[in-house]
Amino acid sequence: MKFIGRAKADSPPQLVAAVGAIGGSDRKGRQGKALRRLVPALMVLGLLTAFTKPGRRVTRMLARRIDDRVECFTGPGSETYVRFFAPIFERLYKRVAEDAAREMSVRRLGRGGTVIDIGCGPGDLVVAVSRRLKQARIVGIDLSPSMLLWAGRHATTDGRIKFIVGDGADLPFDDASVDMVVSTLSLHHWDEPADVFAEIARVLRPGGVALIYDLGLLTFTEAEMAVIAVDAGLEPEDIVRERAHGGLIPSLFVRYRVEGLA
Ligand SMILES: C[S@@+](CC[C@H](N)C(=O)[O-])C[C@H]1O[C@@H](n2cnc3c(N)ncnc32)[C@H](O)[C@@H]1O
Repeated sequence: MKFIGRAKADSPPQLVAAVGAIGGSDRKGRQGKALRRLVPALMVLGLLTAFTKPGRRVTRMLARRIDDRVECFTGPGSETYVRFFAPIFERLYKRVAEDAAREMSVRRLGRGGTVIDIGCGPGDLVVAVSRRLKQARIVGIDLSPSMLLWAGRHATTDGRIKFIVGDGADLPFDDASVDMVVSTLSLHHWDEPADVFAEIARVLRPGGVALIYDLGLLTFTEAEMAVIAVDAGLEPEDIVRERAHGGLIPSLFVRYRVEGLA
């Protein structure tokens, strides 16, 4: 302390800087030590949360709590979502659109047909799908009128792309009239997921398919989804849980697949 004080008073700036560097390197050394202790602790914590059942349960519970607090799809909430969240998921929408195109071609449905996006929000996925399936009619459905105000920018005058206010639990489509259902980040918001899955099964044509993507941390567990399937009047194995692929953001998602039954 004394030494530093003297240096400050009588020494040229270079010496003060050198002394400061000595004190700084001491502090840095202490910080480095603390960091070296913290990193393994964080790694152990990470492993516990990722690879143990209780860890995963706690992480899921915390993530759901945080999500409950931030979810808000009225005016300002929609704007925040459009400006900050939707751009983060751009890679996901592209990936889902590629998956959708592949499924349509495997099923020999070509690039046409009717596709619906449940909980379409501001419509980014609808746009991505419309770029891959150039002849398809794509309808985005969402409970939130303020989200649809944003989505409306992408609607086309010929009706090929349109957006309607509606509930996934009460789809305005005839039985067996839809070739594909897609959805991203909406499932964990559905109040009655069983009712929505029942509707999906009702509107899908035989040979059609639903691909429902949701964040792994927030979505239902396999056991919870089996109960939802039964409540929807389906067999547990009718809703198949799959891993999503295609880079960092998509790999945080799981995908639920429902095949259109005859
Ligand atoms: C997190 S946003 C996701 C929006 C968009 N799919 C995306 O990936 O950016 C969830 C959306 O689901 C909508 N939503 C929630 N429950 C719904 C339901 N039962 N039917 C239709 N839309 C629903 C909300 O209004 C909200 O716009």
